[in-house]
Amino acid sequence: MCGIVGYVGQKTALPILLDGLKRLEYRGYDSAGFALFSGSNFLIKRNAGPVEGLADISEDLGKTEHLGIAHTRWATHGAPTEINAHPHRAGEIVLVHNGIIENYSQIKERLMKHGAQFSSQTDTEVFAQLIEHHRKLLTNKTPKENPESIILAALKTSMSEVEGHYAILLMSQTVPGKIFGIQNGAPLVVSKLKDGCLIASDIQAIIPYHNEVCFLPQGEIFIIDSGDIHCKNMHFEKIDWSADKVEKDGFESFMLKEVFQQPLVVADSLSGRLPIDSKAPFIWDHQKSHEVLWKNAKRLYLIACGTSFHAAMTAKYFFERWAKIDCQVDIASEFRYRDPIFEPGTVVGVISQSGETADTLAALRLANAAGVSTFSICNVKNSTISRESGFQYPTKAGPEIGVASTKAFTSQLTILCALALDIGRLRGINQSGENSDLSFHALARLPHDLDRILKQSEIFINMGATLKDQRIILFVGRGTMYPIALEGALKFKELTYLPSEGFAAGELKHGPIAYIDKDVSIVVLAPKDEWYAKTISNLEEIRARGGHIIAIGTEGDTETSKVANEFIGLPEAAWGTQPILSVIPLQLLAYGCAKALGRNIDKPRNLAKSVTVE
Ligand code: F6R
Repeated sequence: MCGIVGYVGQKTALPILLDGLKRLEYRGYDSAGFALFSGSNFLIKRNAGPVEGLADISEDLGKTEHLGIAHTRWATHGAPTEINAHPHRAGEIVLVHNGIIENYSQIKERLMKHGAQFSSQTDTEVFAQLIEHHRKLLTNKTPKENPESIILAALKTSMSEVEGHYAILLMSQTVPGKIFGIQNGAPLVVSKLKDGCLIASDIQAIIPYHNEVCFLPQGEIFIIDSGDIHCKNMHFEKIDWSADKVEKDGFESFMLKEVFQQPLVVADSLSGRLPIDSKAPFIWDHQKSHEVLWKNAKRLYLIACGTSFHAAMTAKYFFERWAKIDCQVDIASEFRYRDPIFEPGTVVGVISQSGETADTLAALRLANAAGVSTFSICNVKNSTISRESGFQYPTKAGPEIGVASTKAFTSQLTILCALALDIGRLRGINQSGENSDLSFHALARLPHDLDRILKQSEIFINMGATLKDQRIILFVGRGTMYPIALEGALKFKELTYLPSEGFAAGELKHGPIAYIDKDVSIVVLAPKDEWYAKTISNLEEIRARGGHIIAIGTEGDTETSKVANEFIGLPEAAWGTQPILSVIPLQLLAYGCAKALGRNIDKPRNLAKSVTVE
């Protein structure tokens, strides 16, 4: 979603701002803009389109200014037009903003009564005009006060009047050489460089310049000048992601690179955590507290959105079977507005790649406020969700740039698998640590099995391309293959924009079978698991109605290959690792089809990588 970059220092600001915006493109946006401060006036450029367009129209600009703020906007209030793009100017100030001002229309009405006129439909312009309104009032009231104190006071008063979660950067003509800002529920990261200070909404824009950063604390107003960052409660930390981890490495897209990174990131996520033998515990960062937490746990809620929610759904099968714990899963945007039962022994786990998803964060805060134990499975170590959760079981997928989540999902499932298995051991279930569903040996060989599947990537990609003219694509599976079918359908719709739906195979005859005719393709997940025979019956029902069946099953399964029109065999695997393996062909089918349709693989339309608004 929206991205922010700001720079003040000895270097020319514009190239740094544009480079930062490019690095934030993966978050998803539809317009962009920047404001430079020349010492007397602002130079503002905005574009209803990509950052490149901004660079074109600014050819003779930005040669000398050392101070500036920039923004990529993902439209919420008002269409993605130039007028609605940030920065927004109000009198003496310019502002960029991430997040949402919920009470913007009441404030707008109030300001209009004072004569304010608005050119855009955005909540951001309302915020800018509110600050300017207070700045003017304060200046008239205390004309001798220094302009910096006046801006600080205007920000403080405005903050007390707006409702919502936001991050802003602001420059004022009355205080040259400085950027003011607030982080109030939308992240901002700052770094002190040799030649100045760089601030952004995401570490990706900072990492190429410096790896020591500070996540600005919530609710504090800060000031940045070329020499320092002035803010209370700052803690700098080193980031272990390097700039080369955010390059494509010769792949056509970040998504394809990330699909191929899965054996490696799954190995990294397990590294140092696997037990030394089948009776020993898995190794977590906070071993003792982990044991106390899970020995006393009575109910587990797993909460997430989108792909991360599909990881939660899959994990429900693991937790119920291996840990014998009541496990409920929910979509964060529903959970946060329900009345969930929080009793002693309730544990709430939130799953998020970005660690910034607004609804997931709200669900976590609800649980924290209720006083129950919370944990997160996050890919971004210093994200808000990681920081606010009681325990962390981090994934080690590295930066995921493609909007369609792939390696984060398989890493989440790997951690969830290990966790459920370990909790079962802790609670005295499956004492031997070995069972037919999954042993730590099966987990350890997962990277190898993933590698084998990826060797067939061309087959999946080419098959995906053949689906490009389909009216609708359906995905079905039973048991753990049901959430994987949902994930297959989600990958397909977000990358190809074609209608696609996922179902539990047993639900087919309760409605969805009405879709089936000879023009409909249906991907059936049919591994040789305990539900195999039932899935094959469903396959027969689809065949009887003329549906085109693509079956993804187990290598050497002649029965399924006879019933299906097309058959892909995957290596035989333990029940617990099967979902992690089976999602790979689905990611590549979606990729192949999207490529054949000429879609933007890394930045599908209308989507954002980090969904920081509800
Ligand atoms: C789909 C996708 C989204 C995210 C969802 C949650 O490919 O990426 O559905 O999974 O927006 O995001 P996180 O995991 O960052 O909380």
